[in-house]
Amino acid sequence: MSPTEYLDLGDPTFHTDRFAVYRQLRDHDPVARTGPDGARIVLSRYADVERIFKDPLMRVQPAAGRFPDNIGTGAGATFHQLSLPDLDAPTHTRLRKLAVQAFAPRTMATMRSWVEEIIAGNIEALGAADGEVDFVETFAQRVPAEIACRLLHAPASDAGTVLRRMPALNPLLSHGPITPEQLAAGDETAEFYFDYLGRIVDSLRGRLGPEDPVGALMRAEEAGGRLSRDELIVTLVGFFVASYHTTMTAMTNAVHALLRHPGQMRLLAAEPDLAPAAWEEVLRWQSPVHFITRYAGYEFELHGETIAEGTQLLLGIASANRDERRFADPDAFDIRRTGNRHLAFTAGGHYCLGAPLSRLEGEIMLRLLPRRLPAMTLTVPDPPWSDDLVFRWMTALTVAPNGV
Ligand code: HEM
Repeated sequence: MSPTEYLDLGDPTFHTDRFAVYRQLRDHDPVARTGPDGARIVLSRYADVERIFKDPLMRVQPAAGRFPDNIGTGAGATFHQLSLPDLDAPTHTRLRKLAVQAFAPRTMATMRSWVEEIIAGNIEALGAADGEVDFVETFAQRVPAEIACRLLHAPASDAGTVLRRMPALNPLLSHGPITPEQLAAGDETAEFYFDYLGRIVDSLRGRLGPEDPVGALMRAEEAGGRLSRDELIVTLVGFFVASYHTTMTAMTNAVHALLRHPGQMRLLAAEPDLAPAAWEEVLRWQSPVHFITRYAGYEFELHGETIAEGTQLLLGIASANRDERRFADPDAFDIRRTGNRHLAFTAGGHYCLGAPLSRLEGEIMLRLLPRRLPAMTLTVPDPPWSDDLVFRWMTALTVAPNGV
């Protein structure tokens, strides 16, 4: 295949109608080559994407057991080397077993009341607004920031500072090229987080029970080194990093989808017990994360193509979630859909650790919002979308919370 035939994921037409491109790929090019030399492979069918996620021999690290050479040796490198999404077995397995305790049923049970308080308070604030507001700014950014702060016992007033610094970590976590300036900024930011959360953790010593998410992790740390102090802090910062953008996007997508489908909004208002299923359908229909990367852990054949060991695989979550081979009428937004085993949280060993919290947030929001703000209207029907390949989100969503 010549380079001109390689899939161009930077092409502006791709961003204007991604779902049409995904359908083309599923039907005609399920093992699509991309990148200047065609070395990266895009998988778009549900069965293929799920298979790679579930295969324990597929890696998140480009080379087995080796961290990228360009992350230096400072605080940023420590951050990368202890972050769950960047680790393979056996370190990932050990850390994950400990980290998962933060969202165990006994901790989840204690979170419901304060998560509800934060969401209900922000719905009230939205309802008090006059005329038009940007839902992203007034609700979808605030709620996950407040929840993440409450989760980590950080003052809500620090949310702005903590979140503003986060993007500086991305170059260190993304396995791409890093400039010396980016490395310096990443190191400085990692040091900030070690210091900031270190102080919070120290102030909480002896005060939290095992039913608190941070308390559950601190017990593992205090129980004789099963979790080091650095591991504890990186895991906690990871909750912030992993939850903020995804949740903001999913909440915006939920309101957008329901306002574009008023029949579904009315159904949800009449039957609030559909809220959990509606959240799953939002995640399937407009998945906040479009692609996740893995590296082939061994050579294998797929649809007649040989994929070499070490090949970078771009796993198309948003495409898989619209695959007609897996979902009936996949482009329809249907909150009554059953058997909705979407891949928005992926599958296998790295499956989203915070999925129980996300589901709690989604359920509460979708139970309360249609009843409290039944007249909410979309005043700009076609909102602007980011053209980020991996994270696709609406940069603004203008609504009239009490109708026009
Ligand atoms: C709608 C909201 C969310 C979506 C769509 C989402 C999606 C994802 C995705 C796609 C991954 C990558 C999994 C992989 O590489 O296979 C992930 C990982 C992760 N998520 Fe979420 N997430 C959400 C909310 C949250 C929340 C609320 C938290 C915690 C407070 C969280 C914590 C994590 C962590 C710690 C990981 C790393 C897991 C690992 O590598 O073992 N996420 N999430």
